[in-house]
Amino acid sequence: MCQCAGNATDKDWTSNRTAEMNQHELVFILNDTEIHTSISPGTSLVDFIRRDRHLTGTRIGCREGDCGACTVLIGTLDRDRMCYRAAASCLMPVAAAAGCHVVTIEGLNNEDLTPVQRAFVEEGASQCGFCTPGLVVSLTGFLLSSGKLDEEDALTAIEATSAAVPAILPFEERFPQCWRNSVPECPEGESDWSL
Ligand code: FES
Repeated sequence: MCQCAGNATDKDWTSNRTAEMNQHELVFILNDTEIHTSISPGTSLVDFIRRDRHLTGTRIGCREGDCGACTVLIGTLDRDRMCYRAAASCLMPVAAAAGCHVVTIEGLNNEDLTPVQRAFVEEGASQCGFCTPGLVVSLTGFLLSSGKLDEEDALTAIEATSAAVPAILPFEERFPQCWRNSVPECPEGESDWSL
């Protein structure tokens, strides 16, 4: 009798817990995959991306929002338009991604390189491989979110990441041509750049 009552309680607890977990399910899109997860909402987005989804192109450097190695794009719907901005995934709890489109370096291009990736290749602007994904995603985020395409502003937008790797290559020397190659169609105009 006591045992039966005990089992009933366990079952209740299990179904309550399942219902609770479903309530806490987080839904968002990661690159081209719809994610449904009940992971602890406070888990950092970079850990979810790397450990749970094995997308290791997003790097971990400082875990303090300083180095930019973990940069991803966060897309949110503004009326009927997706707006993307660069964000440090080490500072972002996975719960904050709910309802968003998260784009990592792996999700930037399909078959071809994006203009930014091509510019990095053509100009030899790649760094050690550790920070290059962060630079590419940060610059892409700037191009997607900035109203005005200004080279100086672009360099400022990615300077945290470029400053983290000054010893590998003189990135700032390569950046101007890299910038021109990234936005050849409207070097001084309004942003008309898309993924
Ligand atoms: S690891 Fe996120 S900014 Fe450095």
